[in-house]
Amino acid sequence: MILHEKISAQLPAWRERIKSLAKEHADVVVDHVTVGQVVGGMRDIKSLLTDVSYVDPAHGILFRGMPIPEVLKKLPKARGNKIPLVGGFYYLLMIGELPTKEQAEEVEAEWAKRSEVPDHVYKMLKAMPKETHPMTLFSQAVLALQGRSVFASRYHSMKKDAYWEAALEDALDLTAKLPIIAAYIYRMKYFGETKKLKYNPKLDYGANFSKMMGVADRKGYAELARLYFILHSDHESGNVSAHTMHLVGSALSDPYLSFSAALNGLAGPLHGLANQECLGWLLDVYKQFGGVPSRDDLYKFAWDTLNSGHVIPGYGHAVLRVPDPRYMAQLEFAKARFPQDDLIRLAEMVFDVVPTVLKEQGKAKNPAPNVDAISGTLQYYYGVRDFDFYTVLFGVGRALGVTCNYVWARALGQPLERPKSLTTKMLEDVVAKASQPAQ
Ligand SMILES: CC(C)(COP(=O)(O)OP(=O)(O)OC[C@H]1O[C@@H](n2cnc3c(N)ncnc32)[C@H](O)[C@@H]1OP(=O)(O)O)[C@@H](O)C(=O)NCCC(=O)NCCS
Repeated sequence: MILHEKISAQLPAWRERIKSLAKEHADVVVDHVTVGQVVGGMRDIKSLLTDVSYVDPAHGILFRGMPIPEVLKKLPKARGNKIPLVGGFYYLLMIGELPTKEQAEEVEAEWAKRSEVPDHVYKMLKAMPKETHPMTLFSQAVLALQGRSVFASRYHSMKKDAYWEAALEDALDLTAKLPIIAAYIYRMKYFGETKKLKYNPKLDYGANFSKMMGVADRKGYAELARLYFILHSDHESGNVSAHTMHLVGSALSDPYLSFSAALNGLAGPLHGLANQECLGWLLDVYKQFGGVPSRDDLYKFAWDTLNSGHVIPGYGHAVLRVPDPRYMAQLEFAKARFPQDDLIRLAEMVFDVVPTVLKEQGKAKNPAPNVDAISGTLQYYYGVRDFDFYTVLFGVGRALGVTCNYVWARALGQPLERPKSLTTKMLEDVVAKASQPAQ
């Protein structure tokens, strides 16, 4: 299999680099840690290692060093489409090189081969109470698949050097099944349909998802699915879902156990739920003014939001200092396809007005939009209007990045993660010592 072949070829050099860092340079200081960081959620402490992606304050996410516009331009596409094949993108994340079209299609074919979802998963989903949150269902379905983990079944018999091979099997099996599971949850929860879904091997990942979701009537949803999964795949390793996958995986829990945990983190309001709040805010504006407001009315509405003590959702970023390229890619997608849609026109006006308002307020370090400012709006356009489902879509995309990280973490023998804690008193003692005059 192509991914196995390529990783095998790269491994000796990577292992040598890590060995050299760990053995010869272990005592070199990377950064210092402040009291503010210890009490402040470990913000920005440089302590995670990944080569899959990096968030650059000036360029946004770089996937294997490549900015989003380049990724979208250079990766192979299915005939007649403008957005790359997800299989080719997975190849890029996993291998760090641009695939040929054949290589991208090979990954797509692997997914088609591995896509069947066992009966017990459907039964389990059907048996859950109607009001169960779609993210709970999604996470449960991943756990229900865990019995099939190659990593878990081989664990006692394989050598450490071979962990990554079992992890790669699980990564491909798991990512292959997620579009079916997500679409099934959507059809079951919002339309009461419980027919098993089938993956069509003649179609790619995005087209399959679009078909299974049943929103293929509005042309372009397969393209949006491809774009959405690519843009939400990875965001270096410190965010909650990626970090959870890494932490749980470091205990050598298999990819199913680790990814289910990552999804539980993604389900939190401070992580994956933000996109629905942004769409909610846009719809509030739309409702209040009975359509797209004037620029002045929007300016006033934005100030009212701030004055009432709320943030403007979809704007600001912890790391980025420019408009999020993931936002720009989605805005361009919408402008090229449905520029006259009211919510897109409104989103564009917000992009014009809100940064000015935030600059005038002077608090936000980055007054520009982030990915969430528009992703729900695009789903809304295609008729996917059940807000609580949006995080499931995010989860399908996020699996691409975190499973690559899992495979490479095992390949490079990344150890159990075990930071050290202090008590409050110890931290106070550190502060007292630091404020003593130097002798
Ligand atoms: C994304 C976000 C959480 C980043 O937080 P951060 O790194 O602390 O951001 P900053 O350092 O720029 O924050 C400095 C101040 O500006 C405020 N600020 C930042 N973004 C703001 C926004 N969109 N609207 C209003 N105020 C904002 C912060 O609340 C903070 O105020 P405080 O000093 O009173 O606590 C923040 O920008 C935010 O809350 N945005 C809106 C919600 C959102 O879009 N979430 C999705 C994230 S991908």
